[in-house]
Amino acid sequence: MSQANAVPETNEWADADHARGFLDRRDGLPRIDVAYSELLQILPANPRRVLDLGCGDGKVMAMIGGPGVAVDFSPHMLEQARARFHADDVDVVDHNLNAPLPDLGTFDVIVSAFAIHHCSDDRKRALYGEVFELLEPGGTFANLEHVASPTQTLHEEFLGLIGSSPETEDPSNQLVAPETQLRWLREIGFTDVECFWKWRELALLAGRKPNL
Ligand SMILES: C[S@@+](CC[C@H](N)C(=O)[O-])C[C@H]1O[C@@H](n2cnc3c(N)ncnc32)[C@H](O)[C@@H]1O
Repeated sequence: MSQANAVPETNEWADADHARGFLDRRDGLPRIDVAYSELLQILPANPRRVLDLGCGDGKVMAMIGGPGVAVDFSPHMLEQARARFHADDVDVVDHNLNAPLPDLGTFDVIVSAFAIHHCSDDRKRALYGEVFELLEPGGTFANLEHVASPTQTLHEEFLGLIGSSPETEDPSNQLVAPETQLRWLREIGFTDVECFWKWRELALLAGRKPNL
């Protein structure tokens, strides 16, 4: 599916084979280790309570360290995350990000990695607003995200670099330009909004909730 008309009717991530396919490929994706490392670098040391949206098997939450809450809706990913965190102070919550976030308490760090681009654009923006509400003053939201390329040519180049193509790319993707998402964050009230790192369609978008 091309970027221009990427409005999927289904979200493939509920399918166990789709989830397994990502986990099998993840370590081989170009720049992925750099991307996660850049995410960790902009977070405060020793966060009080962390929320991970679209946690997958819990890799990011484990790198940050709990306590916290890890949210996903894929049965396979939830099973993997629960196995990883069974002895840790991390609650793994089954929730579809297309619905408003449930009452999860408050957090000083909220992260997401390569997940929110599976929501519609309206839902992405609304979710960013819900994140703002769940953040404590001074708290950080960091979204390591798959974003849109400025042109179809660059999009197809990116797909080639990750071993994909317009024919095989994830039909669940609903990519938005980083500039648009940074604007949404500022409009919602986040401060220190910045794209802290970017390689092709991988971008680290972040902001803080102002202190009172
Ligand atoms: C590319 S994987 C990334 C997983 C993990 N964050 C990581 O970096 O390894 C995308 C994740 O988003 C989750 N996801 C996609 N759409 C979702 C939705 N509507 N609600 C909750 N989780 C969703 C998928 O189940 C999957 O675990």
